[in-house]
Amino acid sequence: MKLLVFNASPRKSSGTTDVLLETFIEGARSSGADVEKHHIVDLEINGCRGCFNCWWVTPGKCIQRDDMDKLLPAISEADLMLLGTPIYGRNVTHYLQKLLERTFVFTLPEMVNRDGETQHPGRVSRFPRMILAATCGFPDTSNFDIVRALYPMALPIFLPAAQLLLYEEGKKQLSGFLQAVRLAGQKITAGEELTRKMKDELIVEYSDEMKKAIVEMHNRYSESLSQ
Ligand SMILES: Cc1cc2nc3c(=O)[nH]c(=O)nc-3n(C[C@H](O)[C@H](O)[C@H](O)COP(=O)(O)O)c2cc1C
Repeated sequence: MKLLVFNASPRKSSGTTDVLLETFIEGARSSGADVEKHHIVDLEINGCRGCFNCWWVTPGKCIQRDDMDKLLPAISEADLMLLGTPIYGRNVTHYLQKLLERTFVFTLPEMVNRDGETQHPGRVSRFPRMILAATCGFPDTSNFDIVRALYPMALPIFLPAAQLLLYEEGKKQLSGFLQAVRLAGQKITAGEELTRKMKDELIVEYSDEMKKAIVEMHNRYSESLSQ
């Protein structure tokens, strides 16, 4: 099983998104998965120019020469793609956006109706199954609503108030969630389906009391820095 991982946080391994990715990878490796990981900020990836050359002039090939030359074949060969992103302005970061824009080369120009909606069929026989691991700073899962709507095909792993991972006590509180992420990595790469309960455990929901405590902790920290 080939697992391709992209981290769209500019904080790379020192951030919180990477904790989720590494935890999933740990589970995947225990099932013998072949893992390739990239921090997008280190790659040279330009946004799509909207020239449509990949449709009409050089079908299936982008006119731009950058790191996507290596990544597009890797994407088409992967079984699974794990995308990690912090939430910026309630959306994914632009690092992830530009990578995904460039997968436009995998579409054909025709329009077809699929399940009542007009779409472009895929040029490749299959696109890897997607898992979207996102972190955000506020304690409410509503910060993931836009991303959830944008990528309904992706299995969501969502951690609000991810800064808790930076504290020993917070990490302890999230140990059940991290265990669920590890198990998901193990099961999915072993070709097993997750139960509804396992999927639910991949989205952290805090109680009102916990949210209040997170807000108070943040405001105390913020105040200490501004003194
Ligand atoms: C530019 C910017 C915009 C952000 N926007 C949001 C937001 O809309 N909602 C939210 O809950 N957190 C927001 N955050 C907080 C990040 O999502 C949060 O710190 C995340 O865990 C960072 O991930 P990382 O540690 O992997 O970089 C924002 C942070 C930055 C720097």
